[in-house]
Amino acid sequence: MTISREQLLKSASERAITYLETIQSRRVAPSEDSRKQLAVLHHDLPAMGIAPETVLNTLDSVCSPATMGMAGPRFFGFVIGGALPVAVASNWLATAWDQNTGYFASTPATSTLEVVALRWLLDILGLPETCGAGFVTGATMANFTCLAAARHHVLAKAGWDVNEQGFNGAPAIQIVVGEEIHPTAQKALRLLGFGNKQLIVVPADNRGRMRLDKLPTLKSPCIMISQAGNVNTGACDAIGDISDIAHQTGAWVHVDGAFGLWARAVPEKKHLVEGIDKADSWATDCHKWLNVPYDSGVAFVKHRDALRESMAISAAYLPLDPSIRNPSDFTPELSRRARGVDVWAALLSLGRNGVADMIGGNCKLAVRFAERLKAEGYEILNEVVLNQVLVKFGDAERTTRIIEEIQREGTCWCGITKWQGQTAMRISVSSWATTEQDVEESLVAIIRIARKNV
Ligand SMILES: Cc1ncc(COP(=O)(O)O)c(C=O)c1O
Repeated sequence: MTISREQLLKSASERAITYLETIQSRRVAPSEDSRKQLAVLHHDLPAMGIAPETVLNTLDSVCSPATMGMAGPRFFGFVIGGALPVAVASNWLATAWDQNTGYFASTPATSTLEVVALRWLLDILGLPETCGAGFVTGATMANFTCLAAARHHVLAKAGWDVNEQGFNGAPAIQIVVGEEIHPTAQKALRLLGFGNKQLIVVPADNRGRMRLDKLPTLKSPCIMISQAGNVNTGACDAIGDISDIAHQTGAWVHVDGAFGLWARAVPEKKHLVEGIDKADSWATDCHKWLNVPYDSGVAFVKHRDALRESMAISAAYLPLDPSIRNPSDFTPELSRRARGVDVWAALLSLGRNGVADMIGGNCKLAVRFAERLKAEGYEILNEVVLNQVLVKFGDAERTTRIIEEIQREGTCWCGITKWQGQTAMRISVSSWATTEQDVEESLVAIIRIARKNV
């Protein structure tokens, strides 16, 4: 007998609650045994379907134990936020609504929530309120979306309509990037037809910031890509100064601010991104530092028309009312989930002060990690300006061995990286759930493992 929809959804929510309530006490990385269990998933598609509750049970019993504890408080890998309970709850409700949020006429509630959430984001991030903006999957697509608008705009100024004439034969665009450009921004450039060899690369300083004394002579049309929040060090380019220089030749300045843009929301960190509002476009993630569920990024563009002209489509069957903001006029996707719902819920529940406390609190915990590890005699390779800490436990072989054991041991999870030729462990504190106690527990495990591995 198949259970009812109500029973099925209740079962899913009970399983999810149990998962989240026990995440604090379970190991962060899944055990070898639970990984091996995943092998049972590799069977052929059955001819006859299986009861929904059996499907759900398989998912929970086989897969829950094999998940990485990213929703928990001691996952410090990559730059991975958790998901605030209010954002998870709102996301569940929005999933039940199943609103394809491309057009206002068909999805008035979620389209309105998106407008409000975008206005709040512009406000909290201190960006011009007249920006065009859209919800996308993450910073990769936000970079793509902003750079598509940039390409459209700088070519239009050079007398070329890329929508009509395509890109073949268009005036050459000078693309200037920092040496530390994130590979996803480079991928976005490739998707837009700019190959790696076409990039003019500006050397970085020892924190990973673009060196202003090494900027090339800029020639119009030009797009510059700067960064707020280096993925290793957390450092931010001098974007105000870069914009002042770039705008003298009419260049477009894009900011990849996947997590660093959030420094704008924290009074004591704002100085790191001073003048960032002078740029022309900004990409960020909400699934990182706003702690909403995946996937959630935002593209902001000062030149609203350029964004709209590069993204909007029309068809006889699609609603057409230029006086109404349709979400899909500002994103590459037509059909998509209502990403703005989780963002709206997180912002409303935290308020301006709550966002500042969450992000500022993560930064303070990162400093605590760095200070304790330094006091133990380990080398911290970066100035801890945001939430990123790079620690080295001696040579590359020893550092790698220690990181692997930390990951296996399961108290916490930190990743490996290379920073300016040196192998290091990268600690990224990005979750709302992380407390001082979690940092203490993690430090005890890290130091014990590091001491043992001489
Ligand atoms: C600076 C920077 N840009 C872009 C990205 C890509 O973000 P996403 O994976 O959300 O597309 C990241 C991810 O860590 C990042 O740190």
